[in-house]
Parts: sequence; C-alpha cells; structure tokens
Amino acid sequence: RVVAVIMVGSPTKGTRFRPLSLNVPKPLFPLAGQPMVHHHISACRRIPNLAQIYLIGFYEEREFALYVSSISNELRIPVRYLREDKPRGSAGGLYSFRDYIMEDSPAHIVLLNCDVCSSFPLPDMLEAHKKYGGMGTLLVNKVSAESANQFGELVADPETNELLHYTEKPETFVSDLINCGVYIFTPKILIAIEDVLKQKKDRANLRRVSSFEALQSATKAIPADYVRLDQDILSPLAGKKELYTYQTLDFWEQIKTPGMSLRCSGLYLSQFRHTSPHLLASGDGKKGATIVGDVYIHPSAKVHLTAKIGPNVSISANARIGAGARLISCIILDDVEIMENAVVIHSIVGWKSTVGKWSRVQGEGDHNAKLGITILGEAVDVEDEVVVTNSIVLPNKTLNASVQDEIIL
Ligand code: GDD
Repeated sequence: RVVAVIMVGSPTKGTRFRPLSLNVPKPLFPLAGQPMVHHHISACRRIPNLAQIYLIGFYEEREFALYVSSISNELRIPVRYLREDKPRGSAGGLYSFRDYIMEDSPAHIVLLNCDVCSSFPLPDMLEAHKKYGGMGTLLVNKVSAESANQFGELVADPETNELLHYTEKPETFVSDLINCGVYIFTPKILIAIEDVLKQKKDRANLRRVSSFEALQSATKAIPADYVRLDQDILSPLAGKKELYTYQTLDFWEQIKTPGMSLRCSGLYLSQFRHTSPHLLASGDGKKGATIVGDVYIHPSAKVHLTAKIGPNVSISANARIGAGARLISCIILDDVEIMENAVVIHSIVGWKSTVGKWSRVQGEGDHNAKLGITILGEAVDVEDEVVVTNSIVLPNKTLNASVQDEIIL
C-alpha cells in the first residue's frame, strides 16, 4: 500500500503570496478553478493501492476542515489534515506523525511540497523507484543555470540515476538539475530521520557539558529536534546508493508569488485538455460567450454572451462578467463583478472586487517581476474608466484615478 503526505506549510511563511494569502490559506488558492493542493491530491489518486492522504501543516484545523471532508467524499479516499504543534523542519514534521503514516503499513510514502506545480508523474516515478531499490527517489528537473540557486541543486549518475551529490540553494553553481520537492520513500526514511535526531541530541548534550560559551552558541542554533529533509537527510545520504532521481520532462514550476500562480493556473488549464476536458469552457455551451484557448468558468458564474474570454482565464463562483468585457490571462475570484467593456489582462482580481465600465486592469505579464502582473486584493473597487497597470492593490480600496507601477496600501 501507499500513503501520500503533502506539506502545506504555515500561514506565516507564504508572505510573498500576499495579499492573496490574507483571505485563504495559500494551499487552497484556486489554480485553474481548483485549490492549489487539489492538483496534488488528484495526482495521488492515480497511484495504485493508495490508502490515505495526509496534509501536514501549521494552519488551524478549521481552515482545512471543509476542504478535506468534501474532497474525501468526492474522491472516495481518506484525506486528513494533521496540525503540527511546533516547528520541527520538513523531515522532523513528517517523523512526528509517523504513527499516522504507518497506520496502514505502507510499503511506500509519497511526499509532496504543496507550493509546486507539476503533472506529478507519480505512478511512473513509483515504478522507477521500485526498480532502483533505494530508500528514496526524488523528482528532478533541469532549469536555467541562473535560476538554479533558488532550489536544491544536485548531481545524478547518468547511467544508474543515483543521487551522487546534493546541495540546498548553494551560493556557487553546482548543477542545473534541481530538486522538485516531490519524493517517494520507503518507510526506512523514518529510521533515517530518527538517526539524525539522535545524533543532533547527542551533539547538543555534548555541547551543554563542554563549555558555557558553546552553550550560548548552541541556543542560537537550530533546535536539536529540528530536522530538514534537504540539508540533514538528502545531502548526507547522497552517493550512498540510497537515493535515486527521476527526471520529469513535463511541466514543473515553484509557486512562491502571485505571478507564478497565474502562470501555473495556465499550465493546469492546458493539462485539463488531456485529463479533464469537461472542466474547460467550450464557448458553444449555454454560456455563449466567445472562448479563446483554455478557460475555466465555474457553473455559478454569469458571463455575458458578448464577452470574450481567454486564453488562460479562470473564473470562480458567482462572478459576473458584463457585456463586451475582454479577459485575457487572469484569475477572477469569487463574487467579482467585471462591468461592461472592461478589460482585464495579466491580472488577479480578488474576491468581491468590482471593475467598472470601460476600465482596464492590466499587467505586462512578467510572472517573475514583483509588479509584472496586477493584483487586486479582496473588495477593491475600480471605478468606471480607470486604468490600473502593473500594480498591487491591498483589500478594501477604491480607485477613482488611474495608477501605474504602484503598491497601494
Ligand atoms: N508542514 C509543514 N511545516 N510544511 C512546511 C513547513 C513546516 O514547518 N515549512 C515549509 N513547509 C512546506 C512548504 O509549504 C513547501 O511546500 C515545502 O514545505 C518546502 O518549503 P521550504 O522549506 O520553504 O523550502 P523551499 O520551497 O524553499 O525549497 C524546497 O522546495 C524546492 C522545490 O520547490 C527544497 O526542497 C528545495 O530543494 C526544492 O528545490
């Protein structure tokens, strides 16, 4: 049997995702109309003999309660949220829930970072992992040499795919092959974490008796029960025939910023062409509007017949899109109103916001730049004939004059 664990993180961490993470935990922010973590869960569902999915994080239980119960019913697979009591690092967190994880005596544990976007080729990766016969297999990807230092960089044996060397976010370039934050382990990983925990505790005890000065530096250092998967487990186990790599040739991105969420929403929409075409708007249905490329429209949204939508547009529940409106590359969240002849391009429009008649909300479309897309927080009111360009607008603002390249607090 197989158990999947998704690390959903904490409310204090996703700061670069503001103001969008002010309303909803980042893992539940919609990409292609589905919560971010939904894409991981759907991918896990394709693994044969999957017993259970756990989401591990620091959010309050109530923030995930509704989602986990509805997704469990929908997919008919138990999905449970487990809340950490204190920071223990990615491996320490996993270890602290070992009794839950081992409940179904799984032969394999699938571990996923929540803030990545991928086709998650888990069944193929599992087959490769079984063939390699190691303790763990990492999904890896080639990125540009300039961007590699934001990730774990690694070297793998081109013949056997063994992980030979691993460095987390190195200062000097090691490799353009990087860790995707998607892993398959055997339960032996829990023993490896336990070993590291023991070593850390022993070292901390030793320091405590050796000198007062050392004790002072030890208290400033990382706590002894804090174990990071990358630095504390992957680095030391590289080159020991325990870890292997599986390279994805399909799409993969990390989602730290709203700009990347817009890009990833588009990637998931194009994946729907193959996996869930029924979720894409066709344009000839009862909604009638002109549809260009990949578009998701929630069944409760109302889109005027004369609006033109797409490509890469997701429209959430109860949104209303007026006559002659033009939407390109954007995420329109719940209860938004886009009025007649308004244009929204390369933007995210927050819950309950309104964009007035003949207004434009636009970004230049650089997903990596801080102001490369325009973001309206919750309940922002853009009045008629106002142009908002490359800006971030915090919740509850009214814009009655045009703005460009601004953060409106
Ligand atoms: N449950 C829980 N508890 N999850 C956490 C915690 C925590 O205390 N801290 C972070 N996470 C989650 C995040 O939500 C994310 O999904 C994942 O764990 C890793 O987050 P970070 O530790 O911030 O690492 P990173 O995203 O900068 O880098 C990691 O992922 C890259 C791929 O996206 C590393 O593993 C890199 O090597 C890797 O390239």
